[in-house]
This record gives sequence, structure tokens and C-alpha cells, in this order.
Amino acid sequence: MTLTPPTDPSDEGGDVPEYEEVRVPVLVVGAGAAGARTAIELAERGVESLVIGKRSHGDAHTTWAAGGINAALGSLDPEDDWRIHAADTYDEGHFVNDPDAVELTTKHMPDRIRELAEWGMPFDRAEDGEIDQRYFGAQSFRRTCFVGDRTGEAMLETLVSRARELEIPYRENVMVTRLLSDGARVHGAVAYDMDDGHFVLFEANHVVLAAGGYSSLYDRHSSRDEENNGDGQALAYEAGADLLDLEFVQFHPTGMVQDPGWEEEWSGRLVTEAVRGEGGRLFNVEDGRFMEDYSPNQMELDARDVVARAIAQEVREGRGTENGGVYLDISHHDREFIERRLPKMYERFQSLGIDLAEEAVEVAPTAHYSMGGVDIDFRTGETRIERLYAVGETVAGVHGANRLGGNSLAETVAIGKLVGEHVADVVDESTDGEPSLPAGMRTLAEREFRALAELAESDGDTTPAELLAELRGVMEDDAGILRDEESLEEGLEKLAALREKTTDLRLDGDRTSRAFEDAVDLSFMLVVADGVLQSAKRRTESRGAHYRTDYPEKRDEWRKNVLARRGDTGIALWDRAAGLPSEEVQEAIDEGHELEYHHLE
Ligand code: FUM
Repeated sequence: MTLTPPTDPSDEGGDVPEYEEVRVPVLVVGAGAAGARTAIELAERGVESLVIGKRSHGDAHTTWAAGGINAALGSLDPEDDWRIHAADTYDEGHFVNDPDAVELTTKHMPDRIRELAEWGMPFDRAEDGEIDQRYFGAQSFRRTCFVGDRTGEAMLETLVSRARELEIPYRENVMVTRLLSDGARVHGAVAYDMDDGHFVLFEANHVVLAAGGYSSLYDRHSSRDEENNGDGQALAYEAGADLLDLEFVQFHPTGMVQDPGWEEEWSGRLVTEAVRGEGGRLFNVEDGRFMEDYSPNQMELDARDVVARAIAQEVREGRGTENGGVYLDISHHDREFIERRLPKMYERFQSLGIDLAEEAVEVAPTAHYSMGGVDIDFRTGETRIERLYAVGETVAGVHGANRLGGNSLAETVAIGKLVGEHVADVVDESTDGEPSLPAGMRTLAEREFRALAELAESDGDTTPAELLAELRGVMEDDAGILRDEESLEEGLEKLAALREKTTDLRLDGDRTSRAFEDAVDLSFMLVVADGVLQSAKRRTESRGAHYRTDYPEKRDEWRKNVLARRGDTGIALWDRAAGLPSEEVQEAIDEGHELEYHHLE
């Protein structure tokens, strides 16, 4: 996707830059846990795929997931089972989750955990040798499996090592800018090589998008700046797929607050929920354990939306720190416990001069996860565009209006395997043979290459980095934890003004530069930011992570999903009634399981 069309819009006009052509039956875009697990399933079923990623092999945003992965194993709480896991997921998703998505994830997770363990994932073990499980927010039982507080890193290492055993080809440092779609079917993707800037046309019969979420649209976010920029959602949208519930963005309650003395930028980075899962307590500047006022039963382990809003309110009412945060304290545990259960957190803060065993840390909410994303049929993984699939944080459905911590890693492997299975079945059944690119698709690809080449030569006055910072500020101010009609309207106006400025970009002619990558990111982020603002404006209620101060109540008539599709004049939005849980899951919901915090103390 490009910010400006080629100056000569005729298909034949202008020189077409040289490009490499690659043919592959299945192209997997994204190399985190979801992409890796999909490709592993394909390989195990004898189907060739190529996985491509923006970074080097083994480096993906999954490595930043810390605290754990959910599965109703019942290692410590034998009364847990997948139906209760599903019920918790619905409850905290406020009943706009996709029923297939929830059930497929929760039902399959115990097997996925055992499989990861067999592949060598070094889960922490309980005294009896079973996989240990910890509490995470708003879950009725100890259900979160973990490897200290580096669970995502350990999981990706395991998946990458399995992928290597299976000799799955991986191409690193490649960024897809557009899918080749005729509006009915996908035929491949176009990309540029971030190492030397050359263009690549991937011809593929099936494309799986596993390209992450869009939480980096916000100024304070828990991911790396150059990831979670909405690539997957924007690529799917431009290809003609539908997006769902973009307004649901999760703000994790405990992001780091920058200390002016730190050399490195840590603002917004995650202080894992495992700190609260292991007993960490939140205090305001008056030394008040304020969660007693907001959630006396579940306290610090209530759902993320509740805890994040409580912090925001403490700060608004003058009981926060001068940096807009509160304090998180786990120093009532002894050093050995903290070092063993939270080794990364302990080390990180130690290196910044803070001793978790002695003192509290300052924290404030940070944009962490996008519940919204591409609309797929969870039984197949397919979007409304034939042979275009999506998986992982790129999609919406499992988490509804608010995600349970530990359910994102779960979704990647549970649904990734199922999508891999389905694609393998279709590839087997179809007479796919060698992909062959329709002429119109080549024209589309060549037009994109010319536009990208022109973009790199832009010689205006504004850098993409300046516009990225401005865009993140708009989203933080106008579509943050609290929103209303006026702020969302304002956000849309600012976005329109920002889009105007993209005609005056200054790049350096170098397609390997950070500025060029920023410009491509900006093109994705403008699309998704528009979708978030418009969907948030449409949903005139508060539900989960979407809190409208002008509509502070949840409204029954809004038990719906908001869909977005590319129209002739911009985004077209409409609603769809949310599906209902199956009878057995409804029974578990009616049983009313809930974490009772105080029996942990
Ligand atoms: O806080 C955390 O460790 C985050 C986990 C998650 O988002 O699932």
C-alpha cells in the first residue's frame, strides 16, 4: 500500500522497476507464533509454504509476550475445564466474541500445551512435576502456564526450532505492501526487501496473514514502534476483506513510566500481569489500595479494562503520580520468590536501579493489544476473499470486547493449527498446480512498485517519523481509554489533516532506510486509525475496553459486532448480531464462576 499513487496513473506509463518473482503454493505473511504454527501444520501435512517476516528468523513480537498462556489443564485446580475457560473468555469479552473462535481455542488448548512441551518448551513445573499454572486477571482458576516471565520468547524459540526441524523455508527482512487481490480472490503479494530495497512479487495460490495487531497506533504502547502498526488489517482491507470491532483496543494497566534518568526509552513497555498474578498490589500516592473501591472481590486481578480505567480515574482525581501513574508493589514477597517467578522483571528493574524486593514501581496504562481485526470464518480461517486467510492478533473474534491475559498466545497456536489443517486440505483437494498470475494482477503489482519507487524519492518537507508521532498523539488523545463523540469527531478531523500532509513527505531515496519503512507503516496506520475512530463513534455504548463517557452503560441492543469494508468513498460500516455460545458453554456461564481474590491472600 502506498501513500501516493504513481504520478502516471496509466498502467503502461513510466518505467517499471526491476523485481524478483517467487512462486509458492502457500505464502504465510508474518513469522510470530501464529504464522509459525500455521506453517508447521502445513509442513506436517506435506504442504509447502514460505514464511516471510519483517525481521530476522526467530525475532517477532511474540517474544515480548511475557506472563503466560492459558489452558484448562487443571494442574493445580482440577475443577477447571475448557467450558469454564470459555465462559471466562465470554464474560470478559462482554459477549460479543465469536462462539466458534472461543470454543475452538479453549477446547484445543490443553493439547496444544502438551504438544509445545513435547517440542521442548521448558514450562515451569509444579512440585509434582505437572506444568505449573498461575493466576491471571479475571480467570476463575489458575490456568496460565508459563516459563518464568519470558513465556512468549520461550514459545517462539520452540516453534522456530520445530519449523527448522521440518525445514520450513523462511525469508527474513521482507515487508509486504499490498496483496494481489481482484476483490474476489487473492493471487499473492508484493513486497520489498528491507536489506537491499529490491522489489519482490510473490505469486501464491493461498495467502495466510499472520501480521500482528495495531496497538502501536497509540503513543504509549507496549510493543516495538515498528511492529503492530496494523499491517495485516490494512492489507486485508485493501484486498476487500472485512474488518471487525476495530474500536476494541486493550490498554494494559501496567506499562512502565519513563524515569528521566534512564538512558533507554522504556515508556509504555510491559510490566507483566504476572506481577499481579503473583500477588502484586496497586497503590495511589496516598498509599491507598484503590482497587478495594473499584473491585472489592477481584481487586488487582479484575479484568484489564477495569483495572486500567481505575488507574485512569485515580490519576484524573489527583491521586496519581505527577507522571500520570500509580505504584505497583510486590515487595511483600521475599527476594528469592521474585527472582524465581519473575526473573526478567527483576533483572530489568535491577538494571534500572529499582529493587523489586524492596520498592514499588511506577506504572500507567499502555496500549497493548487489538481485539479488533480481520473478520474470518474460524472453521477455516478464510476471509471473504477466497484463499485469503488470517490468524493470530491480525483477526478479531476470540476475545470480544476485552481479552483475558494469556489468551493471545493461546489463540495463536490453537487457531494457527486449525487454519494450517484447513489450508492443507484445500491445497490437497484443489488442482492448484503451479500458480499462474492473471494479467491484471501483474499490472497491479507493477503499479505498486512504481508507486513505491516514487514514494522513496519524495522531496517534501515532512518526515514520515513526524507524521507517525502526530498520528499516535491523535489516537492517544481522542480514541484512548476514555472517548466520546466530540473526541472521536476531532480525531477524524485531525486524521484528515494529517493525510493531507502525506503529500509533502521527505524521504531519502533509500528503500532500506527507516524513513521508508516508516512511510509504509504510516500508510497502514492511516487506514486502521480511521477504522478505529469511525467504529468507536458508531458504537454508542460502553463495553469492555471501549468506554464512551457520553454512553457509560453497556446496552443490550449493542450486543453486536461492527464491521468495516472498503467502499467507493471510504470505509463502509454496518453491524451484525453477535453469535451465541453453545448450550454447554452457556451452562458454565450460568454457573457464575469467578475468581475470589481474597482467598489468595
Ligand atoms: O502481562 C502480560 O504478561 C501479558 C500477557 C498477555 O497479554 O497475554
